[in-house]
Amino acid sequence: MSTPQHFLIAGATGRQGGAVVSALLTHSDFEIDPNRVWAITRDAAGASCQRLISKWPGINIVAGDLNTPHALFEQLGNHILSQTAVFLAQAHGPTELSDAKGFIDAAATHGAAYFVYSSVDRGGRKLSDADPSYCKTFSDKFYIEQHLKSVATQKGMGYTIIRPTWFADNAHWGFPGKLCMTGWKVWMKGKRMQVATTTDIGRWAVEGLVRPDKTGIRNEALSVASEELSFQEIDLIFKRKTGKGVPVTFEWFTILMIWLVKDLNTMFRFIDERPYGADLPWLKERLEPATVTQWVDTIQF
Ligand SMILES: NC(=O)c1ccc[n+]([C@@H]2O[C@H](COP(=O)([O-])OP(=O)(O)OC[C@H]3O[C@@H](n4cnc5c(N)ncnc54)[C@H](OP(=O)(O)O)[C@@H]3O)[C@@H](O)[C@H]2O)c1
Repeated sequence: MSTPQHFLIAGATGRQGGAVVSALLTHSDFEIDPNRVWAITRDAAGASCQRLISKWPGINIVAGDLNTPHALFEQLGNHILSQTAVFLAQAHGPTELSDAKGFIDAAATHGAAYFVYSSVDRGGRKLSDADPSYCKTFSDKFYIEQHLKSVATQKGMGYTIIRPTWFADNAHWGFPGKLCMTGWKVWMKGKRMQVATTTDIGRWAVEGLVRPDKTGIRNEALSVASEELSFQEIDLIFKRKTGKGVPVTFEWFTILMIWLVKDLNTMFRFIDERPYGADLPWLKERLEPATVTQWVDTIQF
């Protein structure tokens, strides 16, 4: 099977997709010209897209919405699509499942060579394969995985499913991040849990997009994390770096939000009762993860 020559990245202006673009264009083992990377955005004139273009001059912008997927693939043209590997990470929302299904169908119809989907870990390989969970943020991704496996098998499109655990990046993500980190601190009482960096999600995604056989992830799902930490430990890592702890918000407000917002409530309940299950020794053997301390050193505060 020939190596894909082009890369279509959904969510390229976001955290995971942005990390995939960076990992593709800065890889130490191979050189990819920015004109072989195609970044999807709903707003080509917007600030996030303009930042992406100034960071990676020459990158192609594919303007459009996941809910009209054929229009996205048509911007590449058929001769390119058969040599294209596709990455999808999406914000959670009411149309996550229908958008992803349509996007996967369109990728297969247009003859994309490979598909990497970033989902979420639901307690390690066995549980993630079998249990959608009662939390919609997680179960939508389970049904997207099922759809991808079925379409890819029928159409002969290779795939890799990446299942990240809790993002360390939540500690550096404006107000939503403060809410997440305060929820970890007070709702989950600082519980130890596996933490992933989106930088590593990008690195693993590139393994899937470019050379899935090297780490044995062709047509496989893998959970990704760097290490297991408590809130107090990550707070200390931030204190050492910045002199201040992880940014948080009002505890009473966070608890009220988790009580009132169903998606947040089921998400925090599920994460609290089901430990993440990435196989840390397996990951370390194949692609040494960055520790959270190393990751914090890369952030511009
Ligand atoms: N936070 C965690 O700890 C954690 C852990 C595991 C998994 N996750 C999952 O990670 C996902 C979020 O990923 P992220 O943090 O990388 O997202 P993000 O930074 O919020 O970025 C979302 C991206 O999606 C694009 N987008 C949104 N709606 C779109 C649409 N309708 N059509 C085309 N593009 C669209 C946005 O692009 P434009 O705005 O430029 O169009 C943006 O690039 C969620 O589903 C979450 O459940 C989170």
